[in-house]
Amino acid sequence: MNTLVTVTHSGGVAVVTIDNPPVNALSPGVPEGILAAIGAIETDPSVVAAVVIGAGRTFIAGADIKELERAAHGDSAGPELHGLLQRIEDCPKPVVMAIHGTALGGGLEVAMAGHFRVASADAQMGQPEVNLGIIPGAEGTQRLPRLVGLAAAVEMCVSGKSIRATEALRLGLIDRIIEGDLLSGAIAFARDARIGLRTRERSDKLGWDASNAPIFDAGRELARKTRRNMVAPLAAIDALEAAATLPFEEGCRREREILRERLASDECRALIHAFFAERAVSRIADIPKDTPILPIRKAAIVGAGTMGAGIAMAFANAGIGVVLKDVDQAALERGMASIRKNYESSVAKGRFSRDIAEQRIASIHTETSYQGFEDADLIVEAAFENMELKKRIYAEIDGIAKPDCVLATNTSTLDIDEIASITSRPEMAVGLHFFSPANVMRLVEIVRGARTRKPVIATALALAKKLGKVGVVVGNCRGFVGNRMMLPYMREAQFLAEEGATPEQVDAALYDFGMAMGIFAVDDMGGLDVGWRVRQEYKHLDKPGVRAPLVLDKLYHMNRLGQKTGAGWYRYGGDRKPISDPEVEALIEKTAIEAGIPRRSIAAQEIVERCIYTLVNEGARILEEGYAQRAADIDVIYMTGYGFPAYRGGPMLYADTVGLKNVYARVREFHKHFGELWEPAPLLKRLAESGESFASHDNS
Ligand code: COA
Repeated sequence: MNTLVTVTHSGGVAVVTIDNPPVNALSPGVPEGILAAIGAIETDPSVVAAVVIGAGRTFIAGADIKELERAAHGDSAGPELHGLLQRIEDCPKPVVMAIHGTALGGGLEVAMAGHFRVASADAQMGQPEVNLGIIPGAEGTQRLPRLVGLAAAVEMCVSGKSIRATEALRLGLIDRIIEGDLLSGAIAFARDARIGLRTRERSDKLGWDASNAPIFDAGRELARKTRRNMVAPLAAIDALEAAATLPFEEGCRREREILRERLASDECRALIHAFFAERAVSRIADIPKDTPILPIRKAAIVGAGTMGAGIAMAFANAGIGVVLKDVDQAALERGMASIRKNYESSVAKGRFSRDIAEQRIASIHTETSYQGFEDADLIVEAAFENMELKKRIYAEIDGIAKPDCVLATNTSTLDIDEIASITSRPEMAVGLHFFSPANVMRLVEIVRGARTRKPVIATALALAKKLGKVGVVVGNCRGFVGNRMMLPYMREAQFLAEEGATPEQVDAALYDFGMAMGIFAVDDMGGLDVGWRVRQEYKHLDKPGVRAPLVLDKLYHMNRLGQKTGAGWYRYGGDRKPISDPEVEALIEKTAIEAGIPRRSIAAQEIVERCIYTLVNEGARILEEGYAQRAADIDVIYMTGYGFPAYRGGPMLYADTVGLKNVYARVREFHKHFGELWEPAPLLKRLAESGESFASHDNS
């Protein structure tokens, strides 16, 4: 034993406590400690049974992902728990696993090697390895189906979702739910326990070939549908298939082989990057963790449109009371109707009860005046994207808000310093760029103005967490990080269309690459008027003589605004499914020919390279100019707000994976061919030439 794993005694029961904060991961020392504890239990004649429990907030939450990361980069062979699990299972005295919090991944695998599992009522269990691009690799694919059956095991390993204690009990994953104190319940259970068949000796739930085939087929179909382009979920099913067809030991060997392959994959490296990147964003170089945070108990929102209503729901869902203001009763009624509809659909889908929905609706008060704003801790301006309008609203709230009220603007592109300058307290102003639908999308860009106080940023970060969102601090440049990169991405897609690819071909190439949606479909969803309005704000910056997309404004003037008008880049029938429109294709072709743009057929690879590398090139500029703290922050923004596939790790990690030398070489070719918009970012050039990566470039 060691400091991470200790053994105490309660009557004849040995209590093995794992204490490796924050989540009792199986870091070096923990498996060794458990092994030593089991050894001591075996030889101590006063011990009749053992309970294994986690200290603090949880049972073991899995392998140490830092260790997995080392293995994924070839710096270690990866965790090896076979000996430990065998030893636990072979222990002649009953070993009872007492689960609270989350038993995840390697944690559940350790638990399944025990002779019994008991859990507190709010415990959860799962095999989330697929989220890291790997499979359960400590015999989970071999023991889980023996306990819960193949269908449930396939579902758990493909979805990566945890199940609750009641479901675990129903499936046979645990033996009892302990009400009240878990440890004393587990000790009492252990005293009476008698070892029957060990998990690895069981086969009653493994089915037979004919009954299993449809389970695996359905699992593979589910994996392809819900985890598009990913290998890990399919690989997990292969390993589960081995459980059904091979003896236990051989199945374990097969599982280890598959795990090794997955650990060495780009998919795994990208997803581990995504895991740590999402947790790193809240670490800001000059804002220490103990920076004071302003409590946000009451929020006020200006504007009950799509964004305002979505933001109101995000607050209500987190238990923060809201005053929602708009100019007239009709606008408020429209906003509340959409809020109500949204909550009703959540109730219908069983996400929460009607009572909860009613409580949340009741926590949103509507106002046509600034009544109720005076004691708000946070005011969010969510009006149209228009500088004059936003300044007018800021001037009005400046006269009403209490001195320590955080003044947030939900602008997606505008200069927040200019908006804040109208107030007497620009240091309290911050951008909170939510993404639509704001009650669903996880990303919030937290825009730091020139004078924003550190506690305001710390408060915004804490608020994002409270709302269940990922807050990424960005600098105040046009479009901040996400939309600034979107501009060249969208522009390039239009150039490709002018040069001969149809919108459908561009979208298909990007979708096949892994983007959640093609860019033209995204534009139609957001509305072409949104981009048009932003372009009017920035028209004065257009450089004469530089190539600009030609068709977008034409569509706008034809009132083809996207889904909302039934037509944009595509046509729409009754649903939101885009239908390619020969009228648009003809318009693009005619426009291109008139402008003297040569037309040709364009391969999917060129579409992907031009669209994705333009994101990367702009990302490199943003990073160098310090508007993002680290490349990983840009990745998080693209993965959580723009549908970039997590298994590619975000645009910057993707570029690192392709190799910056290769990306830079293509960017130079595009520069030569297509002109100044492709000028390589100096940082990209420098890192490519010195053989470095974006991951190594950190502004913090
Ligand atoms: N290995 C290493 N570090 C881990 C970890 C693991 N398995 N699980 C969590 N952590 C770290 C996080 O990086 C974070 O560190 P930080 O505070 O330095 O940023 C800290 O523990 C807290 O994690 P966080 O996710 O912020 O806390 P939470 O309470 O929101 O969630 C979990 C807790 C366990 C549900 C969540 O961390 C999780 O899902 N972990 C991954 C579990 C997993 O995939 N296990 C299978 C591996 S085989």
